[in-house]
Amino acid sequence: MNHFQYKANELYAEDVRLADIVAKVGSPVYVYSHATLERHFKAFDGAFASVPHTVCYSVKANSTQSVLKTFINLGGGVDIVSGGELYRALKAGVDPKKVVYSGVGKKDEEIEYALNTGILMFNVESEQELTRISEIASRLGKKAGIAIRVNPDVDPGTHPYITTGLKNAKFGITIDRAMEEYKRAAGLPGIEVIGIDMHIGSQLTKVNPFVDSIEKLKVMIGKLKEMGINLQYFDCGGGLGIQYNNEEPPLPADYGKEIIAATKDLGLHLVFEPGRNIVGNAGILVARCLYTKARDEKNFIMIDAGMNDLARPALYGSFHSVQALKKDQDGLITADIVGPICESGDFLVKDREVPMFKQGDLMAFMSAGAYGFAMSSSYNSRPRVAEVMVKGGAFEIIRERETIEDLIKGEKVATFL
Ligand code: LLP
Repeated sequence: MNHFQYKANELYAEDVRLADIVAKVGSPVYVYSHATLERHFKAFDGAFASVPHTVCYSVKANSTQSVLKTFINLGGGVDIVSGGELYRALKAGVDPKKVVYSGVGKKDEEIEYALNTGILMFNVESEQELTRISEIASRLGKKAGIAIRVNPDVDPGTHPYITTGLKNAKFGITIDRAMEEYKRAAGLPGIEVIGIDMHIGSQLTKVNPFVDSIEKLKVMIGKLKEMGINLQYFDCGGGLGIQYNNEEPPLPADYGKEIIAATKDLGLHLVFEPGRNIVGNAGILVARCLYTKARDEKNFIMIDAGMNDLARPALYGSFHSVQALKKDQDGLITADIVGPICESGDFLVKDREVPMFKQGDLMAFMSAGAYGFAMSSSYNSRPRVAEVMVKGGAFEIIRERETIEDLIKGEKVATFL
């Protein structure tokens, strides 16, 4: 359920006509529905109401300040993967004690920043990282709370690029090495072992891979207990999928029931790192048709948004449904909807039946709230687009459109030129 609906043939975000946003802000533009963001966060959080837990929203999915603030206001924490994400989350007001830090490439200065901030837990992804965190924490006279991100070798059944829990993936410490590392961690001066972590992939549409991974980690938790290592946190990662097209992912409530059943006898505080599930269907990208071109073998619709604005179709062949802002097109046409970037991979829709858009028509790419703006770039020297948040009948610009001057910000012409 989202709040992008037609009213009298015109597409609205909550009570705002999307065409009115474009009239004021221009196109392309990302538009988020505040009610949908809240609703999705509450649905996820509510699924675990009966057990101690923290929802640490995964900042990478959409790191815009107003989006972060929406979840922080609802009591959410964050999952970060860089010092930059920590900075953003702190600026948005996150409680440092609700921050978990994942990622295979944490740099010294990022580790130090996180330690000085007093985050809850580092999700450690390698043997060397564990040693490094201990060294830095000791130098600062601190103890770093850590979990080991265990790679359980379970297939999440999703796109290879977003599969992270298989043995050959770069993520985590393999399950056969993890016990050794826990033993070592317990003896390191700068480390306090407090948790265990997994994240097996993204856009999962089944609960079994989560449960299978939990079962594997449970065996470890038991053994750790016998060794006198008592954990407090079980970080189950993110990854719960959404509907883009005809997928049928479990509802958060159903996912919750199964995860609670699988973890209930552990008595641990659960941590979750959902990204897409909360923001994916709360945002859209609105673009305008610039030209159309009909060839014998193919129809093209050229628009003012490209793979630099929404990279997912080019990168993963992802499906984003497209809807006309005004339902007055004359029928349907099979076409590619393409951007202005000089690459053949620059498409948002490939060989699909879409409304017969004509020059000037506006369209919305749905389910673009996660990994949309966050993965955008200024490739081909295209300023990054504006973002707008709607609440009820009101809307505000939450990120200004970049200007062409912004494009050369920080550049210096070499003195020898
Ligand atoms: N935790 C960790 C450690 C992660 O690496 C990720 C996502 C998440 C949580 C959140 O996963 P989610 O709940 O959003 O599935 N750009 C790709 C998705 C990359 C996911 C990366 N890691 C896409 O557009 O599909």
